[in-house]
Amino acid sequence: MACHNTSRRVYNHMQILERWNVCLFVVGTYLAVSARCQADLPACEGRKIFVLDLGIFAESAGLPPCSIDATFRVDPITNVPFLRDDPQVKNAFLPQYLGQYSGPWHLAQAIAGSQYVTTDIDAADIVYVYDYCYYTWWLAFVHSNGRVQREDATPGDHLLKGYQALIQMPRWKKKDGADFVFYDPHPGFATGRAEMPIIDMACNTFKHSMHIIAERSQRNVCQTYWTMADKLLIAPYVPATSDVAKPLKGFMTKTTPLEDRKALLWFRTKCLPYIMEGKGRYVNGHRFCHHVSIALGKAGSDVDVSCTDRQLGGHPLPFRSIMDRMRNSTFCLSMPGDSASTRRLSETIMAGCIPVFIGPPYATMPMAEDVDYRAFSVFVNITDYSGWLQDRMEWEIHPTIRPYHVLNPWTWLPEVKVEDLAITVESASSVAAHLRWMQKKEVLHKLERLASERQKFSFQPFITGPYSAINIIMERLCSARLDPKL
Ligand SMILES: *[C@@H]1O[C@H](CO)[C@@H](O)[C@H](O)[C@H]1NC(C)=O
Ligand SMILES: *[C@@H]1O[C@H](CO)[C@@H](O)[C@H](O)[C@H]1NC(C)=O
Repeated sequence: MACHNTSRRVYNHMQILERWNVCLFVVGTYLAVSARCQADLPACEGRKIFVLDLGIFAESAGLPPCSIDATFRVDPITNVPFLRDDPQVKNAFLPQYLGQYSGPWHLAQAIAGSQYVTTDIDAADIVYVYDYCYYTWWLAFVHSNGRVQREDATPGDHLLKGYQALIQMPRWKKKDGADFVFYDPHPGFATGRAEMPIIDMACNTFKHSMHIIAERSQRNVCQTYWTMADKLLIAPYVPATSDVAKPLKGFMTKTTPLEDRKALLWFRTKCLPYIMEGKGRYVNGHRFCHHVSIALGKAGSDVDVSCTDRQLGGHPLPFRSIMDRMRNSTFCLSMPGDSASTRRLSETIMAGCIPVFIGPPYATMPMAEDVDYRAFSVFVNITDYSGWLQDRMEWEIHPTIRPYHVLNPWTWLPEVKVEDLAITVESASSVAAHLRWMQKKEVLHKLERLASERQKFSFQPFITGPYSAINIIMERLCSARLDPKL
């Protein structure tokens, strides 16, 4: 069932579909088996990558065993992991690789199944730290229990022990970790007992390593990352799927022709609450979404924008229906939530809906150097942002306090230059009118560019023919500087 190896980089449409069908069959049938569908990655030519599973330290460092199939489970509603016995996921759960933080698993599978893998750490140019099981265990623990202080060891402590063992390796010491790669798919390390030392390690001990991250805020927490743009990559979240048996279906479904799209603009979000529990700080993303949803909610029968909170008269939609509605709409709003990155952006692009980035602040644009956001997106600059950017969220903030502020403005600066393209309006209520009167030629051009870019947001456990997120991540990893910064 292997896809045959080919070095050709120009594929016609049928070949793409054939390759994808075969690969899909492999995934669908053998799920966790690393597929042998390979394409070449020019940047990885001559590079060897070693996948270092943190589990190898279990015995020597006294870590309890962790299993990606048994230790945690992914909630089908939120796509985030919970502990195995959590009642929320006891009866209904998804395979771990459909969780939104499963990027590291896809990457490990893709490397392991590629011609760039080596099983000899001494022969490797690059070491990928595969901490996925312990990392996700920690995330699941936090989702199930909240950020409680405990006497006994938590999965965060296990992760920390694993890292402490890692840095004792001669291979680590050789280049002070500069040829190591970490993938932190969640921005949430905060203040727990194990988390502070983990942040400290990630920022300082691992400061020469490459970091694949999910959010700009991770860059802000670590001051050392500010100057290492070449070893920092913001990756997208793994999009959800409406069909577990066919995780690639969303990308294989053709995008809807413009004339068949019934809605002009679509958006759904949870708008409440605004205040971060216990901290008294505004979650500006939520307030922002609420303002925009109210402003646009009555902008026309072809505008389908609203909050899902029952208190605001809304209701949540099943994922399948969300995807159907996005496919059926020409434009979809893209706004940050309580953090700067959203999984919905991956899904919007997967659905072939033109993202409309509204700011300030702007949602994170992952893989900004590899994705042509300017060609397929619309950017709107709202000049009266007093409703959501108030004194608690100043646009200018002193550098000394930047790193400690999850809500800090620097987190929200766009990765892509947007000023020259942005449509400037005073209030969100006029966004629909601008979209409605956009020239058809321009809309068609954006849809065409989007159709060819959208596969970049798909995650496969192998290198794909048409570029997917994993190809981009691997190429970045192969081209990162391998020496400690002088
Ligand atoms: C698109 O919208 C039209 C009109 O509301 C509806 O009849 C159709 O079923 C929708 N299609 C999808 C795929 O949701
Ligand atoms: C938005 O518009 C304001 C006022 O014209 C301008 O100062 C600002 O630079 C613009 N920002 C972007 C991101 O376009």
